[in-house]
Amino acid sequence: MPALGTVARALSTCWLLLCALAGSHQLSITEFAVPSTVEAGNNAELQCLHSDAERVDYVKWWWTPMYAASEDKNRVLLYQRLTGHTPEIPKKNVEGRENDTIVLMDLHSYDSGVYECEVSNVAEVRRHQELIVYSNGTGVELNVSKVEDGPDEDDLEEVLVQCEVHEATPLPDLSIFVDDVKFDNVTVDVEEDSNGVYNVFLNLTLSSDVVADGSNIRCELSYPNHNVSHQYTSEIVYNSGTALSTTETPEDTTQSELASELKNKNGVSNRSRWILYAVPVVFAILNNLL
Ligand SMILES: *[C@@H]1O[C@H](CO)[C@@H](O)[C@H](O)[C@H]1NC(C)=O
Ligand SMILES: *[C@@H]1O[C@H](CO)[C@@H](O)[C@H](O)[C@H]1NC(C)=O
Ligand SMILES: *[C@@H]1O[C@H](CO)[C@@H](O)[C@H](O)[C@H]1NC(C)=O
Ligand SMILES: *[C@@H]1O[C@H](CO)[C@@H](O)[C@H](O)[C@H]1NC(C)=O
Ligand SMILES: *[C@@H]1O[C@H](CO)[C@@H](O)[C@H](O)[C@H]1NC(C)=O
Ligand SMILES: *[C@@H]1O[C@H](CO)[C@@H](O)[C@H](O)[C@H]1NC(C)=O
Ligand SMILES: *[C@@H]1O[C@H](CO)[C@@H](O)[C@H](O)[C@H]1NC(C)=O
Repeated sequence: MPALGTVARALSTCWLLLCALAGSHQLSITEFAVPSTVEAGNNAELQCLHSDAERVDYVKWWWTPMYAASEDKNRVLLYQRLTGHTPEIPKKNVEGRENDTIVLMDLHSYDSGVYECEVSNVAEVRRHQELIVYSNGTGVELNVSKVEDGPDEDDLEEVLVQCEVHEATPLPDLSIFVDDVKFDNVTVDVEEDSNGVYNVFLNLTLSSDVVADGSNIRCELSYPNHNVSHQYTSEIVYNSGTALSTTETPEDTTQSELASELKNKNGVSNRSRWILYAVPVVFAILNNLL
């Protein structure tokens, strides 16, 4: 019986040793990098480095499209390198680099999806990340014009604000701000294309007492998908004398875009900061009077 015990002990020691050996050679992906958002037209570098290079059988990159029709949502092989062979890259807009890094060239809306790296020997390890291509398409186009009084209480002329974007990706949101106040009573129409690009049309009718000459009217494109934090804006300074369109004043647009970016960065516009200072002053005056 003691002999059996010794054998068992020897076996378990052996097993531990094997584990330790296997552990030291464990296959893993040591560095994995896929950008989560990329603006259309740019390239993206995807990195997948792994341990234990000499015992790897193959490395593959896969892509699962986000927008393909449901029947062909299958993974697409982008890259494969079998040990001892040169890499094969079956997809046209993909270039191979050293160490299984790939570069996706000139990204379009339809390149959005999940990118996965697979490294295999007897074991297999995988890492994946969603990459979203974003774009303002043909740009945010804003028009403001005066229209006849509509079916409301007053007899005032009205101001029609129209904002649209064509071929934007992913699904965008348009919002209208007049002097930094957002108007929610807008009418929105969305057209969807199978490639993941969207046309969005927005309409808002305002009574002319809401919009004074010199008012700043801004159309803002953002994305409901919070992983895409980029925003685009187009803005116009209202002048009741003329019809206005951002397409007609491109220089002004870029300038005011910069201004609004600055304002957004600071969080508060100068106008609201003025109120922040004014309120305590008013209270101080009232205090002295009472
Ligand atoms: C590829 O990997 C090798 C070994 O880790 C390293 O020496 C080399 O710098 C890497 N090449 C690039 C372009 O990162
Ligand atoms: C659309 O995006 C491009 C690229 O970022 C930018 O140059 C352009 O100003 C944008 N247009 C509008 C109207 O937002
Ligand atoms: C803005 O006005 C221009 C010129 O009148 C027109 O071509 C364009 O379609 C209008 N865009 C919108 C968003 O109404
Ligand atoms: C916007 O207004 C125009 C002109 O009144 C109209 O033709 C169009 O259908 C409206 N679009 C939406 C999305 O309400
Ligand atoms: C939207 O709201 C503004 C301000 O409250 C108002 O002047 C305008 O008439 C409203 N438009 C519609 C279509 O209800
Ligand atoms: C944003 O990205 C994270 C990490 O990639 C992911 O888990 C999450 O689902 C994404 N959110 C949306 C709204 O797609
Ligand atoms: C806010 O005020 C500062 C100076 O006080 C000025 O430089 C800046 O242009 C103003 N910004 C806006 C958006 O008006």
